[in-house]
Amino acid sequence: MSTKRIYSYQFHMARALVLVVFVSQFFACSVFESKNYKEGKSVFANKAMVVSAHPEATRVGIEVIEKGGNAIDAMVAVHFALAVVYPSAGNIGGGGFMIYRPMDGEVASLDFREKAPLAAYEEMYQDENGEIIDGLSLVGPMASGVPGSVDGMIQAHEKYGSIPLKDLIEPAYKLANKGFPITEKQANNYNRYKTVFIEHNQDSTNIPLVRLDREWKEGDVLVQKDLARTLKRIQENGRDGFYKGETAKLLVAEMKAGNGIIELEDLVKYQAKWRAPIIGDYRGLKVYSMGPPSSGGIALMQLLKMSAHFPLGDLGFHQAETIHLMTEMERRVYADRAEHLGDADFWEVPKDDLLDDGYLETRVKQINSSYATDSEEVLAMDFDHQESEETTHYSIVDSTGNAVSVTTTINSGYGSKVFVTGAGFLMNNEMDDFSSKPGVPNVYGLLGGKANAIQAEKRMLSAMTPTILEKDGDLFMVVGTPGGSTIITSVYQTILNVVDHGMNMAEAVSSGRVHHQWKPNFIFPEKDAIDEATKSILESMGHSITERGNIGRVDAILVNADGLLEGAGDPRGDDWAAGF
Ligand code: DON
Repeated sequence: MSTKRIYSYQFHMARALVLVVFVSQFFACSVFESKNYKEGKSVFANKAMVVSAHPEATRVGIEVIEKGGNAIDAMVAVHFALAVVYPSAGNIGGGGFMIYRPMDGEVASLDFREKAPLAAYEEMYQDENGEIIDGLSLVGPMASGVPGSVDGMIQAHEKYGSIPLKDLIEPAYKLANKGFPITEKQANNYNRYKTVFIEHNQDSTNIPLVRLDREWKEGDVLVQKDLARTLKRIQENGRDGFYKGETAKLLVAEMKAGNGIIELEDLVKYQAKWRAPIIGDYRGLKVYSMGPPSSGGIALMQLLKMSAHFPLGDLGFHQAETIHLMTEMERRVYADRAEHLGDADFWEVPKDDLLDDGYLETRVKQINSSYATDSEEVLAMDFDHQESEETTHYSIVDSTGNAVSVTTTINSGYGSKVFVTGAGFLMNNEMDDFSSKPGVPNVYGLLGGKANAIQAEKRMLSAMTPTILEKDGDLFMVVGTPGGSTIITSVYQTILNVVDHGMNMAEAVSSGRVHHQWKPNFIFPEKDAIDEATKSILESMGHSITERGNIGRVDAILVNADGLLEGAGDPRGDDWAAGF
């Protein structure tokens, strides 16, 4: 085993790429001299920072802070703006999780995850022979859970906001009503989904993202009048503008038109919930992340606690031994996830056992340093006393140092593909995050059993991992990402990149990623993330490797040694940072 710190070729490439991006952004920024904030893929600033998946939403957020708003005000404004400018994942028809670290006071976490409707039941996606009905939990009204985003935003705003809700939704309203120019990636995406949208919506002449006259092009202005009217109703009536009245009526009508089961009562009953965050330590840093119904916080803490047993920095970034150890830890953590994690309001999650130092040490001892374990032999630990690609992330720090980390989703890209007719927003397909049948993987290949079985009003298990790190009692990092099952390992790697491999935020975000999730038993590196020599070593250790496309889109903020905020938007998408 080499104890010398070895940087791989990819790491140098990532550094070079980041430098090019940063320099070009610096010149791009200098064009906008009248603005009081800098923006780009990578931005350094003294006071405040917003990083999100879309430049328009990032600008909305930083402008709220410029006008004196706090991190929660900016969060609300960014969330509604993303529902307009990033409809593949930004949403009012979905849900998510928030970790909030006020400058002074306790770290809070809010669960605004979707819920199974009252009429949901365990076998609802199985036919009379117990076989899964193809696609039923993924497309169409049956795939949707009861949306939580609007209640989540309003509850957070009631507790911490300082600017009236109406004013915070106004930028989103304007973006929907007057339109905004779409990016090249968005144009290509909307064109690709055209036939899918037409197939799954009632009126093909009025689908917000479908152009019938010609293909979308970069710079085309997307106007969403029905969505603007929905946002206006929320501006005027708050929670009731979504969960009651016209919007609710339209939503239920849309569900009924396609045999969906969400009723008015489901909407009226929906409540976001304040939860205790998962708190842990990693190499002297304090980590705050999301607890159940997300698996993210527990799984991330398990990975970090196990990682503390190994000199990952000395072993080197993306060296075979480092990837082997990460894979072996991930294999065990995802096995635990499948067995033990679910909505803790319905299932006793053995959180303390899963995070117990002794238990994790036992797991570490099972790892062979030179050979892969067969996933079939890795079972979730049996605790004696136990009774039993689309999402988006944004990170915000305001001028007084309050920080918020939010991951939100309608599950797959464009959720259930169903727009609520007349209300202009997409509904989620989050029901697929439940385990529809033990042993049958969901769309991300994740397995589950009783802990994550469908029950009325239960929240489906998530992998979303909004996270905040502290160093010596001060804010250190705000981080999160989309990516389904790869969310946990992407957040994990971003933290390792900074803490163990000495990268800055932009390098940590842009570096290649590698993923393993116990089953299927493959290491999934992004294309070109690891070199051929490293692959051969890993294969000789018994690993199977399958290259895949992009993993995650991390939007993160780091407080560097000089106290400067470094915002980094993932180069894999249109992600964008802005700060002052
Ligand atoms: O909550 C979850 O874990 C999933 N619904 C997230 C989906 C996702 O990240 C898809 N994006 N790429």
